[in-house]
Amino acid sequence: MPSTLAERLSVVVPSATLAINARAQELRAKGVDVISFGAGEPDFDTPSNIRDAGIAAINAGRTRYTAVSGIAELRSAIAERSARERGVPTAPANVVVTVGAKGALFNLALALFEAGDEVIVPTPCWVSYPEQVRLMGATPVFVPSTLERGWKLDPADLAKALSPRTKAVILCTPSNPTGAAYTPAELAALADVLRKSDCWIVSDEIYGSLVYDGFEHRSLLSIAPDLASRTVIIDGVSKTFAMTGWRVGWSISPVPLAKAMEMVQSQGATHTATPAQWAALEALRSPALEFEQMRALFQLRRDRLVHGLRALPGLRCAMPEGAFYAFCDVSAWIGRETASGKVLTDDTAIAAWLLDEAHVAVVPGSAFAAPGHMRLSYAVSVEHIDKALERIGRAYASLR
Ligand SMILES: Cc1ncc(COP(=O)(O)O)c(C=O)c1O
Repeated sequence: MPSTLAERLSVVVPSATLAINARAQELRAKGVDVISFGAGEPDFDTPSNIRDAGIAAINAGRTRYTAVSGIAELRSAIAERSARERGVPTAPANVVVTVGAKGALFNLALALFEAGDEVIVPTPCWVSYPEQVRLMGATPVFVPSTLERGWKLDPADLAKALSPRTKAVILCTPSNPTGAAYTPAELAALADVLRKSDCWIVSDEIYGSLVYDGFEHRSLLSIAPDLASRTVIIDGVSKTFAMTGWRVGWSISPVPLAKAMEMVQSQGATHTATPAQWAALEALRSPALEFEQMRALFQLRRDRLVHGLRALPGLRCAMPEGAFYAFCDVSAWIGRETASGKVLTDDTAIAAWLLDEAHVAVVPGSAFAAPGHMRLSYAVSVEHIDKALERIGRAYASLR
C-alpha cells in the first residue's frame, strides 16, 4: 500500500512535553492565566553579545553552506573547551556540530542502532531517548532508579541489564527530568561495570554547567578516560546560554564514529544554520558573568520550588543537583477525588487536573517512563513559583 506511513512510526510517540506546552498555550490564548512548568528551556533571553554575533554574521554575508561538521573556528573552540573541562585530549576531528543536541543524538542513533540492538536507558529518562532508539528498530531497555537513591542508576542494576546485545548505555548528568547529577565516585562505580562490556557509552551533558550549591559536574570521560574509545559526549549551547531556538549542539566522539555521524548529517540536515554557528562561537568565548547570574537565579528558584512542593501533603521531592527541573512523587494523590467527582487515576490525570483546576502546567512522570510523578521546570520567576504553589495547595485542599 504505497500511500501508508512507514511501519517504523507505529512504535514512536510524539514528545509529551511539547504536548503539554501546546495545551497550556491553547488555554492562554483563551485568556486563562496559566503558569507553565512545562518548558524545557531557560526563560532568559540569549545574552546580547551572542545575539549581536548572530546578526553580525548575517550582515557579513556568513549565510552560505559550511562544512557538514561545522565551521572550523567553532569545532576548535568546542574541542579546546572540552579538553580543558574534561581533561581528555580532544581534536576538532572528534567534533560534529549538529542541529541542537537532539540532532547529535539523532545522528548517533542512525549511525549506531539497528534491529536486534538493545540500548540501556536509565529511568526516569528524557522523552526522546527511547523514541529515537525505537525509531531505529532497536529496543530500549529501561533500568529504573528511585527517589531514595537520588534518582541515580545503581551499578548493580546496570550490570544486570547489560547483555551481549547491548549496543549502548545512555547516561544523562545532570538529568532531565530529575536534575540528579553523578558524583565522581558514582561515575567510577558505573565505569567499573562498563569496563566489563564493550558497548558504546553516550554521556548527555547538555545541563553540565547548570549545577548548584557548589556541586561540580564531572564527565564520565574525565573519570574513566580509558573508555574514551567508546564514549560519545552530547553537549550544546541551548540550555547554558539560553539558545534553544538557535539549534546548535554537538557530539564529541572517536573519529571513526564522528565520520559516520557526519555522513548521516550530510544526507539530512547538512549542517545547522551558519549564523547560529557564529553565535555559538561567541557564546563559548563569552565572559562567565551573565551565565553566573542566570545560574544563581535558577538555584534560588530551585530551593523555593522544592521546599514549597515538600510542604504540600503527601508530595516527595529530592533536591536536584542540577538542570532546572524538580521531579516530584505524586503517588499519594492518586485515587483522590476532585470537587467535580473525577478520580485522579494516575499522574496524567493529576497533570490534567492541575492544568484545568489550578491553571498550572506540569509534565506527568509517565512521559519520562516514571509514572506516579510529575516534572516541574523552574524556568519560571520566583513570583510565579510562589503563586503556583499557592494554587496547587488550594486545588489539593478541594480534593475529597
Ligand atoms: C537531556 C537532553 N538532551 C538533549 C536535549 C536537546 O537539546 P537541544 O535543544 O540542543 O536539541 C534536551 C532538551 O530538552 C535534553 O533535555
